[in-house]
This record gives sequence, C-alpha cells and structure tokens, in this order.
Amino acid sequence: MDRSKVVVITGASSGLGEATARHLAAKGATVVLGARRADRLKALADELNAGGAKAIAIVTDVTRADQVQRLVDLAVQSCGRIDVMINNAGLMQQSLLERLKVDEWDRMIDVNVKGVLYGIAAALPYMKQQKSGHFINVSSVAGHKIRGGGAVYSATKTAVRVISEGLRQEVKPYNIRTTIISPGAVDTELPDHITDPDAGTLIRKLYEDVAVPADSFVRAVMFALDQPDDVDVNEILYRPTRQEF
Ligand SMILES: NC(=O)c1ccc[n+]([C@@H]2O[C@H](COP(=O)([O-])OP(=O)(O)OC[C@H]3O[C@@H](n4cnc5c(N)ncnc54)[C@H](OP(=O)(O)O)[C@@H]3O)[C@@H](O)[C@H]2O)c1
Repeated sequence: MDRSKVVVITGASSGLGEATARHLAAKGATVVLGARRADRLKALADELNAGGAKAIAIVTDVTRADQVQRLVDLAVQSCGRIDVMINNAGLMQQSLLERLKVDEWDRMIDVNVKGVLYGIAAALPYMKQQKSGHFINVSSVAGHKIRGGGAVYSATKTAVRVISEGLRQEVKPYNIRTTIISPGAVDTELPDHITDPDAGTLIRKLYEDVAVPADSFVRAVMFALDQPDDVDVNEILYRPTRQEF
C-alpha cells in the first residue's frame, strides 16, 4: 500500500474499524477516525500518534449526514485528499419480527444503510474531483443469507451490497474502486447490542464457538488496497472455517 494514503474509517472506536485503523496507521497511512464514543476514539488516536503514526479523530454519528461530511472534510482539510473511505460503522440487533422491535429496525436502517449512503455522499465529490479513490463498504454473510431473527439486519446488509454494486458501475469514469467486505462471525462487540434474550443467547453462543479475530478482516482490507490501480476487488466474502451459516 502507498504509505501516504489518507483513509477515513467510520466505526473506528472498536472491533473491525479499530483493528483496521491500528494496522493502517502502523503501515504509514494517515487514518481519520469517526465514531460516537469520544473517549475510545481519542484514546486510540492519542496512542497511534504517540507511537509515531498519524491519526485524526472526530466524534461522528453516521446517522447524521452533516457529521459524516464533517469527518470527510476534516480529512481533506488536514491532508489535502481522501484516498479510501471505509464505511464500517454498523449495528446488529437480532430478534424475530413478531417481537416488533420497531425502534431497533429503524436504528439498524439508519446506521447500516443511511450511514453508508452518507459516507458515499461525503466522499464521492472529492474522489470524483481527484479522479481516484476507493470505497470499502462493510456488508456481511448476512447480506447473502437470511435466517429467522435476522431479517432486518440481513436487509440492511443486502442493501449495502446493492448500493455498492450500483456505485461500482457509476464511478467507472472517475477511476474509483469499490469493495464490499462481507465477513462471517468475527470476535468484536457486535453481538453485545442484541436486546432480545433468545436471539442474544443464540448469537453469543455462535460467536463463542466459531468467531475468528479481527485481523481476518484487516487482511481482507489489505488485499483490496494492495492491488495495483487497475485491479478493483469488488467483494470479499469470508467465514470462520467452522461457521455453517
Ligand atoms: N463482527 C462480526 O461478526 C461482523 C460480521 C459481519 C459484518 N460485520 C460488520 O462490521 C462492522 C463493524 O462491526 P464490528 O464487528 O467491529 O462491531 P463493533 O465492535 O460493535 O463496532 C461497531 C462500530 O460501529 C460504530 N457505530 C455504531 N453506531 C454508530 C453510529 N450511529 N455512528 C457512528 N459509529 C457507530 C461503533 O462506535 P460507537 O459506538 O463509538 O459509535 C463501533 O465503532 C459493522 O458494519 C458490522 O455489521 C461484523
């Protein structure tokens, strides 16, 4: 990877986003980090900067288009460009539809779908102007498969894939690359947000049994980023070897 790359990462305060930020910063990229938890974000940026890396952090709620725009603007104002936009922030709240957790449905749609769209809206004009750029949008195995309790989460992750494929086709004239990364179970805080006791027990047990570390995701990101400019890796779907779903 070109060491001077400017990479914006949403959902950088934990899990896949944090692991990616750490790795890219160690490789010499400038990482521009967004998430809601200010303490976690600041601690990460301080640690990276103290270690000689270049990290910038700003509290960002991806359900707010203006805040996502501010995050991307900060990257461009500070570094003069944005090379990679990793739309990673996401939320998984599993439950049967009959439990009618309408607030959770709304929230997943806002974070997982609108959040990705706001990331595209913020970064695309800059990338068009640069005639270069790379979107990495995080979907899931759940964007390929559906099972009871996961309908809305799967719908949002399917939407990420659909939006990314539309984007891929539209940005050809601007030399922009688009990658969907669809992981299976990876050991992060993701299952902690499930409030439904039945779904929570099921998913936590699955994660305890099969989840793989976040560096699996980082390797997928690096595979996409490390391709020569004329190669566009459009989707990486991977699972823990032991995962059946
Ligand atoms: N772990 C897995 O097994 C797995 C599998 C497939 C796909 N994924 C996807 O991977 C992505 C990252 O999840 P993870 O596994 O790393 O889980 P995680 O540890 O829970 O991380 C989720 C991140 O998203 C951020 N976030 C949530 N709501 C946000 C909002 N409104 N605005 C800004 N940031 C927000 C969180 O930060 P704050 O709370 O500080 O805002 C956190 O940094 C998600 O899109 C998830 O759907 C994960």
